[in-house]
Order: sequence, then C-alpha cells, then structure tokens
Amino acid sequence: MDKKSFFNQMAEGWDERFYAQEMRERLPQLVSLFQLQKRARILDVGAGTGGIIPYLLEAIGPEGSLWAIDYAEEMVKIGRMKFQKESRVVFELASVENLPYKDQFFDHVVCFGAFPHFEDKKEALEEMGRVLKTGGTLMIAHTLSSVALRSHHQNCGPVSTDFLPEEGEMRSLLGKAGFQVKRLIDEPKRYLCEGEKI
Ligand SMILES: C[S@@+](CC[C@H](N)C(=O)[O-])C[C@H]1O[C@@H](n2cnc3c(N)ncnc32)[C@H](O)[C@@H]1O
Repeated sequence: MDKKSFFNQMAEGWDERFYAQEMRERLPQLVSLFQLQKRARILDVGAGTGGIIPYLLEAIGPEGSLWAIDYAEEMVKIGRMKFQKESRVVFELASVENLPYKDQFFDHVVCFGAFPHFEDKKEALEEMGRVLKTGGTLMIAHTLSSVALRSHHQNCGPVSTDFLPEEGEMRSLLGKAGFQVKRLIDEPKRYLCEGEKI
C-alpha cells in the first residue's frame, strides 16, 4: 500500500486514536512555544483531520485566519466537516510540494506530526519557505522526541522508515532552504524545530 492510501485508510477514527486525553493536555503547552501572533495568517501543512487546529485558533485569536492542507482526500473530508462552521478555517486538498498559495502569503507555517512523511524534504522546505513572509516562522513539531517517534513509526507499514533527520542534517536542510534555525528542542515528549525565513 502506498503512503497516501495508508493515510486515507487511517482517516476515520484518527481523532479517537491519536487525540486521547494525554495528547490533548500536551497540545496547549506545545502550541504556546510557537509564539504565534494574534491576527496572524497561518498554514497547517499535513493537517490530517485538523486535531491541532482548535489550539492554533486560540493562539491567533478571532481576527486570525488559518489554511489547512493535506494530500489525503479522506483526511480533508473529515477536516472540512469538523470546521465547516468556523469562518477562520479553509481546508484544502494539496501537497506540500505544490502549495496553492502565492509567495509570502503566511506569517507562520505549522507542520505538526507530518514532516517525517514528506518524501522530498528539501522540496517541502523550499515550498513552505516560498509561501512564508520574510521574518515569518516555520514550526516543525511533534509530541514525541525524535527517538521516540522513530520507534512509534517502526511497525506502521508504509511509514515505518519515516524519521526526523538527525539534528545536523535538519539544520543543514533548513539553512539550504533559506531558514535560520532559531530553536531545536528534542526531548522526551517534545520536538520543536523553529526556522525563521531570512
Ligand atoms: C501523522 S499524520 C498527522 C496529521 C495531523 N497533523 C495530526 O497531527 O493529527 C501526517 C499527515 O501528513 C499528510 N501528508 C503526508 N505527506 C504529505 C504531502 N506530501 N503533502 C501533504 N500532506 C501530506 C498525511 O496525509 C497525514 O494526514
């Protein structure tokens, strides 16, 4: 089975499986580290069913706006349904390699639980950088350390070899894509790599 089919198949029941109480309790603290501006325009890449979106909306406030993209149709279907009454949210079917937005459109790009799955990480970073304003920030985040994430994925069929790059490689990838790495936190139950577009 290819990766996209795997995620499509996982869409139903995703929230029940991955957004248990413990995860929901950890998200406000993780999102507070993103330092999102009130009234910001943000993009959630690889948004799945939008599990982190309520926390992002809380951070950007009533005048912020949020676009969410995912390449798996079933994820987007559920995401659209969940946020149909939320005027600040637009859910779209798109790939990270080809984002349907103009250059420098967003203040922040958030990539939560998705970066290891991108086939071409260089291309993904360049494309996320293209749609970010200069000085805008990219947050690559997980609620696990890179080591814990590696074992979490190990028995997951088509994503079993999807890992976060080692720290040196991550810094080099971001640098080549036009980001300055502001923070790289990799500790139990938390991973955050923040890049500022220069
Ligand atoms: C592990 S899930 C995380 C979903 C969501 N961010 C969450 O934490 O609940 C990874 C998501 O990335 C999406 N994805 C993987 N590769 C992608 C790509 N190249 N472009 C867009 N989305 C992608 C998958 O369809 C899946 O929904």
